[in-house]
Amino acid sequence: MKAIAVIPGKPNTTHMQDAPDPAPGPGEALVRVLRTGLCGTDGEINAGLYGQAPAGSEYLILGHENFGVVESVGSEVKGIKPGDYVVASVRRPCAECFNCLHGRADLCTSGKYTERGIKGRHGYMAERYAEAAEFLFKIDKGIREIGVLLEPMTIVEKGAAEAIEIQKRLPAKPRTALVFGAGPVGLLAAAALRVRDLDTVVMSKESDTDARAQIAQAMGCRYVSTANSPLDDLGKQMPAPDIVLECTGSSAVAFLAMRMLAAGGILCLLSVTGGDKTELVPAAEINRDLVLRNNVVFGSVNASPAHYRLAVRALKAAQKKWPGTLARLITTRLPWTEFEKWFGREVTGIKTTLEIGS
Ligand code: BGC
Repeated sequence: MKAIAVIPGKPNTTHMQDAPDPAPGPGEALVRVLRTGLCGTDGEINAGLYGQAPAGSEYLILGHENFGVVESVGSEVKGIKPGDYVVASVRRPCAECFNCLHGRADLCTSGKYTERGIKGRHGYMAERYAEAAEFLFKIDKGIREIGVLLEPMTIVEKGAAEAIEIQKRLPAKPRTALVFGAGPVGLLAAAALRVRDLDTVVMSKESDTDARAQIAQAMGCRYVSTANSPLDDLGKQMPAPDIVLECTGSSAVAFLAMRMLAAGGILCLLSVTGGDKTELVPAAEINRDLVLRNNVVFGSVNASPAHYRLAVRALKAAQKKWPGTLARLITTRLPWTEFEKWFGREVTGIKTTLEIGS
């Protein structure tokens, strides 16, 4: 079969190649890939900054945001049948840490986890893949158009759900939220918060008339463009929020976000910032305020099976509340043979998908 692969560690080596057809075992389903989403992680792997090939392979098949249809199932597979739309999760457990052994590979402590399309395991930019049923999540027909957004939705669902869980330490429930960044992750974060009825502001660098601002507003968020405000003034634009989700990919914004929290507020950091940028920050002031305001700052990566199920629910709720709005995140659908256009930055927009099957 055809696949899009990369030589990890070598910049700009993404290419199409032949790869062995998957051979599903009795506990696995064979899935035909319909599309994959492209995200910053794919860009970083292509730039040679991230990513790892499976043991014994020179190349890594890319792709972790996925959407496909089951073609056949092994004799031991239950709960999934040919014709079902599915999304496969990304991370697979290590064989030694307590969290992985208890179904929480997203909280792996050994660092020996693998991730399909990212670290040590082939991904989904291929005509087909085989996967155990436990790693597959069914997508109803009503949300199949946005099924490819499920994986990034799991990331923000984990962040939002954990923030709310941690805040059970307080007598008062969180009411207000701020999302930094209006890329796909930021807008999905806004959806996750609005589905939970939080009063939500989205702050991002694009102007008020940008499609991103319109999508945020369509979901009932207030949009604040940071284009014309000095960063230090942003706190004056809104009451201090109870929950902040940082989705910009900028470490500077992560520290700015710490300074915007309400007393008792919580900040969830969701950006895997590449590189080794150094920032000058007012450390004493930040530390003092975090202490005096009883704030929490935590990082969150990947997602558990429970977050996949929450994300399916959130996509359905969002589709019902704001029909067609999340579909507007997918601004470019490229035939997969034209993958170079995205890696070469010829296409811009919010989310680009590679259309693999029909
Ligand atoms: C993916 C996560 C993954 C993380 C770190 C993100 O782009 O969405 O599933 O855990 O990268 O590799």
